[in-house]
Amino acid sequence: MVFALPLVVALAGCSPWTSPQAGRALYDQNCAACHGADARGGAQVPDLTQITARAGGSYPQMRVLDKLDGYARGQTVYDGAEMPNFGDLLTGRLTRVQTPSGLSRPMPEKIIALDAYLRSIQR
Ligand code: HEC
Repeated sequence: MVFALPLVVALAGCSPWTSPQAGRALYDQNCAACHGADARGGAQVPDLTQITARAGGSYPQMRVLDKLDGYARGQTVYDGAEMPNFGDLLTGRLTRVQTPSGLSRPMPEKIIALDAYLRSIQR
């Protein structure tokens, strides 16, 4: 494993706590009930394999992280349907994530893992 890679790449690929596999387990426990085991969504619940497509072709990582940590409160994909906040996911170890502007910001590892999983399933 190459730990000298840029932070986001290292987080997505190398740490067992922030890997897509860890995110998959968290997804199954917390998200599949609404978004579906295959993440394809349903009526009033967005298809999470289409996040990149909906965003115009590039994966909107900051938007997804904001959605998951609650910063995006009030910004919804569909009118009239809102996703609950996942305060319990906010507990546990924090890791810094590099933002596109070059700043880094501490995020719960569980949220980083969910983001890595969602990124891995984009179609
Ligand atoms: C109670 C049902 C429910 C659960 C549980 C749920 N969601 Fe959602 N989710 C929604 C709904 C409804 C929306 C669309 C409205 C909104 O954006 O708030 C949404 C929107 C989203 C979006 C925004 C999609 C986009 O294109 O911007 C993401 C990302 C997401 N959910 C991920 C997750 C993850 C990861 C989990 C598990 C931690 C989860 N959701 C759990 C109902 C749910």
